[in-house]
Order: sequence, then C-alpha cells, then structure tokens
Amino acid sequence: MGLREVHEVLPSTQDRAIDLARSGAEEGTRVVARRQSRGRGRVGRGWTSPEGGLYISIVLATPPPPATLLPLGIGTFLARGLNDRYRTPLRVKWPNDILAVTPGEPPRKVAGILVDSVSSPSLGQAVVAGVGINVRVARDAFPVAIADDSASLHELLPSAPSVDEVEEIAAGAALTARRALAEPGGTARVRRLCEEMLYGVGRPVTVDGVRSGRITTLGDEGELLLATGEHRLAVRSGEVRVEEEA
Ligand code: BTN
Repeated sequence: MGLREVHEVLPSTQDRAIDLARSGAEEGTRVVARRQSRGRGRVGRGWTSPEGGLYISIVLATPPPPATLLPLGIGTFLARGLNDRYRTPLRVKWPNDILAVTPGEPPRKVAGILVDSVSSPSLGQAVVAGVGINVRVARDAFPVAIADDSASLHELLPSAPSVDEVEEIAAGAALTARRALAEPGGTARVRRLCEEMLYGVGRPVTVDGVRSGRITTLGDEGELLLATGEHRLAVRSGEVRVEEEA
C-alpha cells in the first residue's frame, strides 16, 4: 500500500497525485482533499468541490488494454461497493458517471471519475484515477446550474455516511478494477460486470446532441453500443445523454 496524503484544501488532488506518480510513488498512493479550489472534471470541465464531498486521486499501474475499460470498471466497482454497503440505487452512466436512479424521479449524478495517464519511473506508464463523490454535500453548496441534476449520498439514506468510510470503498474499487483487468480473462469479466450496472439500456440517446439510437450493451473495449434500426453503432467518445421515451 502506498502513501496516504490528506489535505484540508488543494487546487486538485489529481494534479498532486500526478506529481507524486512522476516522482516514483507506488501503486495505491492516494491523495485526499476536504475541498478543492480548482477541481478538474472530464473534457476540460471543472469539478465543484465543496466541503462534504470526497475528492481522491489514486496512483495505479496501467492495466493491459483496452484502456477504456478502466474508468468504467472503477465506476462499476465503486457503485457496487456503495450499493452493497448502503443499499443505494446507484448505476453507471457511460463512460464515467455514477447516478442515483430512483423510480419515478430523474436520475441525479452522485460521482464522477477522471483517469489521466502519466509516466512513472517505478511503474512505467501509470495512471491516476480521480474520483469525486458527493457524500454529505449540502444542497445549497451545489452551483445552481447543476443542482437539480446532482445528488449527495446523504440525501438517499436515513443517516449521512462518513467521508472516511466512502474513501476506503473508493480506493478499494480503483485497485480492484485495475487488478481485475490484469487477470487472465479479466477484460471479459469486468465488461460483464459493467454491463450489469449500465444505466439506460434500451433507452434512446443523443450523442453530442444528435439522436443516435438506443443503448444495447457494451463492446469488447468498453465502447457503448447503440442500435439504430437495422444497424449497430459504437460510441467511443462524446457526450451521451439518455433521453425519455418519445
Ligand atoms: C467528471 O465527472 O467529469 C469527473 C470528475 C472527477 C473529479 C475528481 S475529484 C478528485 C480528482 N481531482 C480532480 O481535480 N478531479 C478528480
């Protein structure tokens, strides 16, 4: 097990963990902050990081290809871990969001995952897996633009979970996903687990605003497979939005 650094505030745990990986930090090294002032999300977006969230970045060895299964696998092990521990109704939205899905209500985002590649003198090519989870974030701490689409774990449960306990589940999920992908037959097994947790199967989606088909399943490399009439379409990048039935 690597080092565990805990900070009251950091610009971004991801950037700190990348620095540690570049200086030879071993697998499992983790950086946690109680708040971030410049949290990073996917595709250049920010990640608002008020008190009450878990902000953690973990150094991992790079699993064998396909690389795209790692973020999805971490999300899947994390959602399963949280559901097992707290009986939460969490699912994974491709490629890296964890949503609370309660019947009759719109899905709301609880967590996001960001994976960066980095060269390490000890691990060769390494990755830093960053996880942001709304654990006990007050409703008025979410920016207005995302408040309606966001949920915090404590809102789903009779009592608020501890951030430290959720940290253990998140760090365990990242290491488990990385190791599972490196086992013989691991890619197929992780892909099957991801399919079981996948949100929106059978529903129509737009990709970058364009109506593109219905989700069927995941491909061998973790790509999202859509059915469009007679055809199948593989989505490897872009902003996927799961739509209500027409
Ligand atoms: C996303 O949904 O866009 C991914 C969000 C990832 C946020 C986490 S919080 C811990 C780590 N540090 C960062 O700056 N970003 C990641």
